[in-house]
Amino acid sequence: MPPQTSTIAELRTGGAVLPIVRWGNPILHRRTRPVTAFDDELRELLRNMFATMYAAEGVGLAATQVGVDLAVFVYDCPDDDQVRHVGVMCNAEVSLPEGKERKLHASDEGCLSLPGAYIELARPDHAICRGQDQNGAPVEVVGTGLLARCLQHETDHLNGIVFGDRLAGRARKKLYALHEDTADLLRTVEGYLADGYRRIKLKIEPGYDVDHVRAVRERFGDILLQVDA
Ligand code: NI
Repeated sequence: MPPQTSTIAELRTGGAVLPIVRWGNPILHRRTRPVTAFDDELRELLRNMFATMYAAEGVGLAATQVGVDLAVFVYDCPDDDQVRHVGVMCNAEVSLPEGKERKLHASDEGCLSLPGAYIELARPDHAICRGQDQNGAPVEVVGTGLLARCLQHETDHLNGIVFGDRLAGRARKKLYALHEDTADLLRTVEGYLADGYRRIKLKIEPGYDVDHVRAVRERFGDILLQVDA
């Protein structure tokens, strides 16, 4: 009999890296279905989600970002004290401070589903996230610092919200422009790969943003021998 429960350590091994869905795909913009079965199928999904998150060097990843319409995310993210938190959150809900306790913190935010684009977004600096772990047991995570931002960002994904939805029009436009620049760079590299090149020396044109170069390196680091900056 296979085990009916699993640990985070088990879920962090043996997964497959899946393609990440981009903003604009309808799955990212509608509410997800609750997780009700804590079974082998969920465990396989979680393994693949951890593998995909680590390959993309993210701190959180929602199931919709690998094309699965379920209310679950994985995370591996430091808090304000640089304590690392790693876990699974199914059917997440976030509680935010109110009144005098509510303090907004503005910091750059990005999303693996919009590579290369980061922009400042103010969010409460403290968040409590409640849900269920990979085995269906209730869990509560108290988030500060980057973890507070991560828990809010990922719970948004479960509700069909991307962080661009929380930006004013002008900031949102800038965010998409940043992403487009990166997308151009990614397409250039993909074009060379399609032509059979395996050793690519990329000349970075003036005006390329360091985030764009980083996004290309994250995606193609294994085949890009050298990036000229
Ligand atoms: Ni995201």
